[in-house]
Amino acid sequence: MLLPTLLGYLIGSIPFGLLLTKAAGLGDVRQIGSGNIGATNVLRTGNKGLAAATLLLDLLKGLAAVVLAAMLFGLDGTGEARDVAKAFAAGGAVIGHCYPVWLGFKGGKGVATNAGVSFGLAWPIGLAYALVWLSVLAIFRISSLAGMAAVVAAAAAAPLFGYPQFFPVLAAIALLIIYLHRANIQRLLKGEEPKVGSKK
Ligand code: G3P
Repeated sequence: MLLPTLLGYLIGSIPFGLLLTKAAGLGDVRQIGSGNIGATNVLRTGNKGLAAATLLLDLLKGLAAVVLAAMLFGLDGTGEARDVAKAFAAGGAVIGHCYPVWLGFKGGKGVATNAGVSFGLAWPIGLAYALVWLSVLAIFRISSLAGMAAVVAAAAAAPLFGYPQFFPVLAAIALLIIYLHRANIQRLLKGEEPKVGSKK
């Protein structure tokens, strides 16, 4: 399933956070805050609109990767072929966001892209992702905690909501995203993880 993975990777590797902040004359987002290219770090530039746009575009690229893969490579009439294409594109998109070849393989942490991927795989999984993400964010106001809770929720939601075929890819993505948050986890354990919108 090389082609859906490659398609997913190419779409996922578009670094919207970096492109938008550079286009807006805010410099290189990798030089501020956590150095991440995602919406949380774009918000540390102080530009809320740009952060919202980054979140939306990173989400939409994950969705687009999965939907396009299903359209292009899932056409043999069996749901199984479509689901395999979607799963490989999903993995490719998150890997593309986290390890973009264009940025020397140093990208983001995959939370927004995986939200779009989850909606593309099956809308109930995407809904579980969004509900957990927004709820944890509203309660704790800590982006990393909300993101990690959401990626675990998506993996758990797959078999619970009748999509066991997507559990392997969502579980692998959850492990990758938690690994990429290892510095955030250290700060969370020390009570030092910044709240959303703080400049750190
Ligand atoms: O989606 C990224 C977020 O979970 C953490 O971002 O910049 O605080 O490490 P950051």
